[in-house]
Amino acid sequence: MRSVVHTRQGEPAQVLTLREEPERPRPGAGQVLVRMRVRPVHPGDLAGVEGLPELWEQQSDARTPGVEGMGVIESVGPDVHTLGPGQRVAVFPAPGTWAEYVVVAADRIVGVPDEVSDETAALMLVNPLTLRMLYRALDSALRGRQGSVLQTAAGSSVGRLVSTVAVRHDLPLINLVRSASGARKMRTLYPTLPVIATCDDDWRDQVRRGAGRAGIRVVLDCVGGAMTRDLAELLADGGTLLSYGQLGSGTTPLERLPLIQRSLTVRGVSVLQWMSRPPKERARDIAFALDLARNTPDLLEVAASYDLADFRAAIEHARRPARTGTVLLTTAQSADPGQGVAR
Ligand SMILES: NC(=O)c1ccc[n+]([C@@H]2O[C@H](COP(=O)([O-])OP(=O)(O)OC[C@H]3O[C@@H](n4cnc5c(N)ncnc54)[C@H](OP(=O)(O)O)[C@@H]3O)[C@@H](O)[C@H]2O)c1
Repeated sequence: MRSVVHTRQGEPAQVLTLREEPERPRPGAGQVLVRMRVRPVHPGDLAGVEGLPELWEQQSDARTPGVEGMGVIESVGPDVHTLGPGQRVAVFPAPGTWAEYVVVAADRIVGVPDEVSDETAALMLVNPLTLRMLYRALDSALRGRQGSVLQTAAGSSVGRLVSTVAVRHDLPLINLVRSASGARKMRTLYPTLPVIATCDDDWRDQVRRGAGRAGIRVVLDCVGGAMTRDLAELLADGGTLLSYGQLGSGTTPLERLPLIQRSLTVRGVSVLQWMSRPPKERARDIAFALDLARNTPDLLEVAASYDLADFRAAIEHARRPARTGTVLLTTAQSADPGQGVAR
């Protein structure tokens, strides 16, 4: 079995290596062994390799990145009766999907409908579930009050999902991107939503004018870093900064934010907390993700696919500016060296 592993944190292209192991893992009670076909390279996967201590603490030895993907069930644990070998499935949260085989708890498996492609299935959980978590956090931050919502990195895969739902629900969303070309792309995709490029010197004034008297009530931010102070200053009094990513550089100390004077709230949102949501809410979220995968697969756009062994080229592609869509790592079934290996 091939897997991508690292034994220390650092620059992914340097610390990750491809490992060959003679044996596949075995599913225990309540578990399923999935032969993975496709898994994404998410920004969070790379952040986990670069250094998220809480992720690292869970690892004793070598760690394999990846939290979602799709494949086919190879075998099931003794007490798993509702799933069986040969079923196409998507998995999340499933630590270690950058491998040919992964053992996953049965309650983290979602059956993939025939009409959904492997590529779409590999992308149908993390970002759509993040969207649901962001919208719930947004709803509770707005509490029915007037005002606009500002989102950073609006051209990202998650940002486009947010924009699509905003258009559907008439949410007053202002999109921020970092380049003029990114702004042009977003205007073409979402002509009714205002777009502002942070490469313009007066982008903050453009946001204030766009928000009008009610101001910015909530910021959905995945850039953070040095930009956090600007974002907090753009919020109306009593507003909320929802932080869910760290694409930017630099840092902003908490003390530099006008939290106290302006009664601002800063709240983190992570899809890694999704399993702690009530089962009924999770079932509705999965139904939403499946509906999106079936009916609007274009929203789960693929940038390119690379073989698992070409993970360095995939990472380089995933970091290219102005890319659209998510880069995938695939394992060709015909070239599956795990076939016939003693179990
Ligand atoms: N908290 C969670 O549970 C959760 C779950 C999923 C995703 N996320 C986060 O959500 C964010 C988007 O993820 P994704 O998969 O949708 O991303 P993606 O499709 O890979 O897109 C990345 C976007 O970020 C922009 N970007 C990159 N670096 C930037 C910077 N320094 N300043 C401003 N914009 C920058 C890029 O702009 P250009 O087009 O100009 O290159 C691109 O539009 C990431 O931070 C990710 O970690 C968080």
